[in-house]
Amino acid sequence: MKAKMTLHKEFSIGETDKRLYGSFIEHLGRAVYTGIYEPGHPQADESGFRNDVAALVKELDVTVVRYPGGNFVSGYNWEDGVGPQDTRPVRLDLAWSAKESNCFGTNEFAAWAKKVNTEVMMAVNLGTRGSREAGNLVEYCNFSGGTYYSDLRHSHGAADPHGIKLWCLGNEMDGPWQICHRTAEEYGRIALETAKIMKWTDPSIELAACGSSFIRMPGFGDWEKTVLDHVYEYADYISLHTYFADRENDVPNFLGRSLEMDRFIKIVAGICDLVKAKKNSKKTVNLSFDEWNVWYHSNEADRKIEKWTQAPPLLEDVYTMADALAAGCMLITLLKNADRVKIACLAQLVNVIAPIMTRQSGGAWRQTIFYPFMDASRYGRGTALRCPVSVDKYDSREFCDIPYLEAVGIYNSFKNEINIFAVNRNLQEEINLAAEIAGFGDIHFTEHRALRNADLNACNTVLQENVKPEVLPGGRLDGKAGAKQLEINLPPASWNLIRMSVK
Ligand code: AHR
Repeated sequence: MKAKMTLHKEFSIGETDKRLYGSFIEHLGRAVYTGIYEPGHPQADESGFRNDVAALVKELDVTVVRYPGGNFVSGYNWEDGVGPQDTRPVRLDLAWSAKESNCFGTNEFAAWAKKVNTEVMMAVNLGTRGSREAGNLVEYCNFSGGTYYSDLRHSHGAADPHGIKLWCLGNEMDGPWQICHRTAEEYGRIALETAKIMKWTDPSIELAACGSSFIRMPGFGDWEKTVLDHVYEYADYISLHTYFADRENDVPNFLGRSLEMDRFIKIVAGICDLVKAKKNSKKTVNLSFDEWNVWYHSNEADRKIEKWTQAPPLLEDVYTMADALAAGCMLITLLKNADRVKIACLAQLVNVIAPIMTRQSGGAWRQTIFYPFMDASRYGRGTALRCPVSVDKYDSREFCDIPYLEAVGIYNSFKNEINIFAVNRNLQEEINLAAEIAGFGDIHFTEHRALRNADLNACNTVLQENVKPEVLPGGRLDGKAGAKQLEINLPPASWNLIRMSVK
C-alpha cells in the first residue's frame, strides 16, 4: 500500500507542552505499595522508593504525575497521609473496596516526584469533602511557613514548600460510580468556590476542572457547558478521560477508536470557546487529557479479587502488541491537537493499567505500551506539524473512513531534529510512504525505529521482552536542501519513529 505525506516547517499546529508526557499514580491496587514504594525491597532506597522502578520512570521521561486519584481521591482525607507514619489511620477505601494504610501520603509523593524529576499534579477531594480542606492542602503544600498548615508541614519534616503548580478540582464528578457524585450544577458551584479559595491561597497555581468521564457519558457536552458557565474565569483546563477496549477482538475497529478521541477533543475545545464567547472573556481554557490508556484485560480478574485487603492486584492489564498500536494512535491524536491539549496523563504508571510492572520482592519490567510513550516523550518535544496524509481508508464496525496511516511530525528547533511518529493500521501490508519535506534546509536521515510483532497478542513478561523496538534499515532521502523527498517502508501493524536531523 502506498501513502503520501507533506511535512512543511510552516504547517504548525502549535508547540507541544512538555506536560503532554504525564502519567498517573493513584492509591489503587499495587501502584503505590509494591509499585513505586516497597520498603525492604532489595532495590529500595532509604525512603522505601524502588530504584528499579524509578529508573524505568526516568527512561520514560515522565514530566508530570497526577496523584492521589482517581476515584480514590473522592473519599480521601489528605490529613491521614501526613505526620508520623505509625500514627496514621488505616481506612476503608470505598472507591476500590480495599484497605488504605496511609503509610504513603503527600510528603512521600512529593519526595518521590523529586527523585524521578517529575512535577506533581495534585487532585483534591470534592466528593466527601470540600473547599476548606482543599484550600488547607494548598496551604500545607505551597505556603512557606508561619501559618497553621505550613508549620504543620515543617513539623512533619518538610521544611521547603512543595511548590505544586497544577491541581485537579476533584475527579470524574459526573460519574455515578464516584463517591458523592454531583450534578453539573452542584459540581460547577463547588468547583468555583473551591477554586477561589485555592487561588486566593496561592495565586500562582493552575486548576483543571472535571469534564465528562468519557465521550459516551449521557450528559457529555451539557456537563462541560454548565460547569464552565460557573468556573470559567478560575479554571485553566477542563479534563477529558478515555480508555479503549477491544472486547470483541476486532483490532481494525479498536485502532479506529482514536478517531473518536480526536472528536472528543475537538468538541470539548469548541465548548470552551463557546463559553468564552458567551462571557466575552479574553481567557482561553485549554484541555487536560489527564487519563488515557487501554483498559479491559483485567476486568474479569478484578471481579474475583477479595475485598478489603491492602494493595490488592487490581487493574493489572497485561498489554499486547495491538494495545501498543492503540496507545500509539492515542499519542499521535494528542500531538495533532497540541494547540489545545496542554496536559495528558497516561493512566496509570506502575502496575495499575501501566507501562511498568513489578513483582513484590522481585523485578520490574516494561509492558508493550512503554515504548510508544517513551519515543513520544523523548522525541515529541518542539513544534507539532500538521502533515496531510493521502492514504486508503477503511470502515470498521463502529467507525468510518479510518486512514491506514496515522501520523504527526515534530520539529525541534533547539535540537535541529525532525521526527515523525506513525502507526500503520494495515494489519497485512506494509505502507510505502513518500513524504515531501520542505522549508527546513538540509536534512539527513538519522534512524527508523519500529515496534512490531506478527503476533498481535504478543506481550512482555518479567522474564521475556517479546515486544521491543528494533532499528530498521531506514529510508531514502533525495532532493535538494529545502525540498527533500523521503521514501520509507512502514511494516504492517507497526508503531514507527522516523528521525532526521537538520543541518
Ligand atoms: O484509572 C483508573 C480509574 O479510572 C480512575 O480512578 C478513575 O478516575 C477512572 O474511572
